[in-house]
Amino acid sequence: MVKSTSRNAKISLDSKQTGRSDEPERDRVRVVALVGFMGAGKTTVGQELARQLNWRFDDLDDLIEAAAGTRIGQIFKQSGENAFREVECSILASTLAGGDLPRVLALGGGAFLDAGNQLRLRSKDIATVFLDAPVEELFTRSDQPDVVRPLRSDRDQFYRLYEQRRPEYLKAAFCVQTSGREIGSIAEEIIETLKLKRGVLD
Ligand code: S3P
Repeated sequence: MVKSTSRNAKISLDSKQTGRSDEPERDRVRVVALVGFMGAGKTTVGQELARQLNWRFDDLDDLIEAAAGTRIGQIFKQSGENAFREVECSILASTLAGGDLPRVLALGGGAFLDAGNQLRLRSKDIATVFLDAPVEELFTRSDQPDVVRPLRSDRDQFYRLYEQRRPEYLKAAFCVQTSGREIGSIAEEIIETLKLKRGVLD
């Protein structure tokens, strides 16, 4: 289960409500990009989704760290957020350009805010899914001692940033509320909604 305290599980599948009218042609989706705030469960759900589909899984933050040869916290510390965003955009562009294998891609919490990144992701064969939960729950979930999150400081700042970003996340193809739900059932829901095909695609 995505760690949570609330039980108000609710799924919104209405693409109009999320502001996207150009939903991908569902039988052609071969990349699912998970977006959402820190603590949304993008990596955990993404791994499970890829496992169920027998697709490849990539985490954009991991790709950035591998390419930069250093941790995200260090990039922020040494070069600042703007430099991090430049690297993030460039790694996203190169990973989307490379390889044709079907896959699940977990984006970092800020990646979907960039208009250029949204444009790149607005392709027929890429489906963007916004994982959401009550902000207090996101705040609790994102408190992981082993993960450095430079943009997570105090509760007020976290709430403000979430409110500021949420309208952009809502531009994803659809939104799944994850609160109180088993990870497996969230993954199943995404598979059913997008009519994803398991295994190697043509
Ligand atoms: C960020 C979220 C982080 C990471 C970086 C910036 C953000 O990823 O990309 O610290 O701007 O919200 P997670 O969403 O996986 O924590």
